[in-house]
Amino acid sequence: MKKATVGIIGGTNGMGRWLADLLSIQGCTVHVTGRKTRMTAVDAARVCDVVVVSVPISATAGVIADVGPHVRKGQALMDLTSLKKDPVALMLQHSEADVVGCHPLFGPSVTEPSGHNIVLCRGRGNAWYTWIRTIFEKIGYTILERTPGEHDRMMAIVQVLNHFNTIALGMAIAETGTPLSEVNQFSTPIFKTKMDIVKKIFTESPELYADIIAGNPDTNDVLQTYERVVSKMISLLDGGDGSMLKESMEAVAKKLF
Ligand SMILES: NC(=O)c1ccc[n+]([C@@H]2O[C@H](COP(=O)([O-])OP(=O)(O)OC[C@H]3O[C@@H](n4cnc5c(N)ncnc54)[C@H](OP(=O)(O)O)[C@@H]3O)[C@@H](O)[C@H]2O)c1
Repeated sequence: MKKATVGIIGGTNGMGRWLADLLSIQGCTVHVTGRKTRMTAVDAARVCDVVVVSVPISATAGVIADVGPHVRKGQALMDLTSLKKDPVALMLQHSEADVVGCHPLFGPSVTEPSGHNIVLCRGRGNAWYTWIRTIFEKIGYTILERTPGEHDRMMAIVQVLNHFNTIALGMAIAETGTPLSEVNQFSTPIFKTKMDIVKKIFTESPELYADIIAGNPDTNDVLQTYERVVSKMISLLDGGDGSMLKESMEAVAKKLF
């Protein structure tokens, strides 16, 4: 397999750091850049075979526009963004290089590939797409090849709906005005597990989750559905007991499981 030179913009931390470690172990020469590194993103674009953009979502479009024109035919421009439609379109627009969209469906702490999936989107060209796919598959990751639109539609469920629901839970608990220290004394195992997730979403990287929700092209559709379902659930309790809610849950269980 080709031992490529890879430049990771935003490789000083997070997912960029994750990919830098992975590719170094595979024998690639890896340069990482951040806002304060001596090597700039444009320097990396000039010397590397593959240039990977892995910066916060809000900075991604600007970085692609800046660096894209310096990544030329024969090289590859790739990204790790949690959204795929806009970044892949921007990479194609701003560069003549091969383009690969990539979204690992996990966070940077994952080192054990088993059970973890990575979405790859073909942008332009075949050689570098096959190169990165072969590396991930050799290590043991499962690859899902999808179009950017297909990816974003699924992420509207797996990330937008899921994280929005978690944020709503945290906000509703705060809105009750009951101190969490008090609530926690009555915690059940399921509540504890859910509150661990609420805490992670609210405290670890609120920007990432807000941008994942705001930036998905299917967010409006999926949140309208969510709003409709919450209203319906409330109306199902109008009878004064839980029978209508139970029947609705049984019908949904047949559909889902
Ligand atoms: N975190 C996840 O769980 C996860 C999972 C899958 C995909 N992703 C995607 O991976 C990408 C990176 O996310 P992350 O969570 O790894 O981000 P992060 O840890 O917050 O930042 C990654 C890198 O971006 C650089 N950076 C920060 N702000 C910047 C700016 N304004 N301009 C240019 N560079 C900047 C930082 O380098 P310096 O501080 O050295 O400048 C840092 O090394 C995002 O597109 C995200 O959607 C994240």
